[in-house]
Amino acid sequence: MIELRANGERLWQSLMTMAEIGALPNGGVNRQTLTDDDRRGRDLFRSWCEEAGLQVSIDRMGSMFARRKGTDDDRPPVMLGSHLDTQPTGGKFDGALGVLGALEVVRTLNDHGITTKAPLEVVNWTNEEGCRFPPAMIASGVFAGVFELDYGLSRKDHAGRTIGEELERIGYAGDRPVGQRSIGALFELHIEQGPILEAEGQRIGIVTGGQGARWYDCEVIGAETHAGPAPMESRRDALRAAAPLLEDIYQVAHRQGPSGRATVGEFQAYPGSRNTVPGRVRFTVDLRHPDGGTMDAMDRALGQAFERARARHEGRLEFQLEEIWYAPPVAFDADCIEAVRQAAKALGLSSREIVSGAGHDAVYMARVVPTAMIFVPCKDGISHAEAEYAAPDACADGANVLLHAVLARAGA
Ligand code: GLV
Ligand code: MN
Ligand code: MN
Repeated sequence: MIELRANGERLWQSLMTMAEIGALPNGGVNRQTLTDDDRRGRDLFRSWCEEAGLQVSIDRMGSMFARRKGTDDDRPPVMLGSHLDTQPTGGKFDGALGVLGALEVVRTLNDHGITTKAPLEVVNWTNEEGCRFPPAMIASGVFAGVFELDYGLSRKDHAGRTIGEELERIGYAGDRPVGQRSIGALFELHIEQGPILEAEGQRIGIVTGGQGARWYDCEVIGAETHAGPAPMESRRDALRAAAPLLEDIYQVAHRQGPSGRATVGEFQAYPGSRNTVPGRVRFTVDLRHPDGGTMDAMDRALGQAFERARARHEGRLEFQLEEIWYAPPVAFDADCIEAVRQAAKALGLSSREIVSGAGHDAVYMARVVPTAMIFVPCKDGISHAEAEYAAPDACADGANVLLHAVLARAGA
């Protein structure tokens, strides 16, 4: 069976065809979750699954499951996939490689007339990215029992539309219960989204776990006034007060050495007029670290940074900090990790163990299902950007490791 190979050319064509949906001028993709382009991407994926003989079902969070029967069809399925939603200026590979790589595994098995013992399910999770509807990984989170269904369906975007409403609108409000069923194992193929594999010339990352991520909503509230007559000393300028606070926030990460991360990715000043002093700013903070204890220390340090800002402004401005999400660091399943390691070895692909810097649906699924991930290198470690790129050979390597890890786990 080890001579079996995925069709790298077909996988590449599928990736490029999917990337036409929501294509951006500089090679990237904007296919944010539950938009019309997400619907078009889902429709295309569904048609490809049906052509491959899979039976597609949709759960109440809109996640899509494409099932291939096993010879022992009562066994819990082996699940493989990722997400088709993207960042606003995302790339062609983050998520899509995992979904279409999984479809390529099925197409390869079809080509060779191989039926696994356990059934297979190719999955496309709803709203992995969390940029439109925070928090991230929400549908896999509901599947794994981390969030209630009502919480998931009621998350809102900036325009006040909920996930539930948008699922109805695009026709992907399924009727399957979310989770509450047994899954034998889960494998997610993904680009690394960091620089390590490329720098070391390794073809496969054997992902042993993922680092923690904490998200916060923040506000600084002062008072609006005229940009001309109001003397500088009398102003309660929310943006000016936020400026030194931002540097304090970045220091929360720097104080943890090379592994700490702090990002302010959204920032709005109100009312957004060049000749009005901003009376209010809102911004987001994303903190990450591989160690849970350090994540907690960073949380405390962030709180202290806000305390210092309050002290600097002695009650003249208000500083609000609200944690809205915490996904703690996670370790993947030893047997699934070993299946990935053995697959890479048997295929003669160089590999190293690696901890994921990004969040993934696999992180939540690991709470209820034996799970592992496979990374392939991406150019300059860049993702969440139009410049994101993984070479055709790297995508094919990943699909081959996925194929053989899945075969080992599902039995053939
Ligand atoms: C998901 O892409 C994340 O890591 O934020
Ligand atoms: Mn992703
Ligand atoms: Mn992403």
